[in-house]
Amino acid sequence: MQKLIIINGPNLNLLGKREPNIYGSLTFTEFFDTVKKKYPNVDLDYYQSNIEGEIIDKLHEVGFGHDGIILNAAAYTHTSVGIGDAVKAIETPVVEVHISNTFSREEFRHQSYVSPNARGVVLGFGLQSYELAIQSFL
Ligand code: DQA
Repeated sequence: MQKLIIINGPNLNLLGKREPNIYGSLTFTEFFDTVKKKYPNVDLDYYQSNIEGEIIDKLHEVGFGHDGIILNAAAYTHTSVGIGDAVKAIETPVVEVHISNTFSREEFRHQSYVSPNARGVVLGFGLQSYELAIQSFL
């Protein structure tokens, strides 16, 4: 059984309430429950933090044992050298995910410290981006 984890960064705990025109009206818990049922043969974990260091700690914790990491570092994607370095330091492949198409938004969202060290990037497909990332590991 594949052991995967979704790691979500800052403000993604507000999914469903936050700018629904961009991020949709489903909460992440609702989405995660559906995905868990759809992929019963995947051991799928979920972690969310608004704190940069906690995301780095989680990457270290799972980055030598899990088969895959699906990372939406949210705003830290565009600012965090530390998260980028952590993705580089670990062994587990990371697929970077974004709900929105960051390239169709403000210029500062075009930069990613995660992408250079990610196996791949899925963005712009709403919450389905996470599911496509899961499928990439199967
Ligand atoms: C996001 C895009 C980021 O630019 C933004 O800061 C987020 C969410 C996305 O999933 O579309 O918080 O990562």
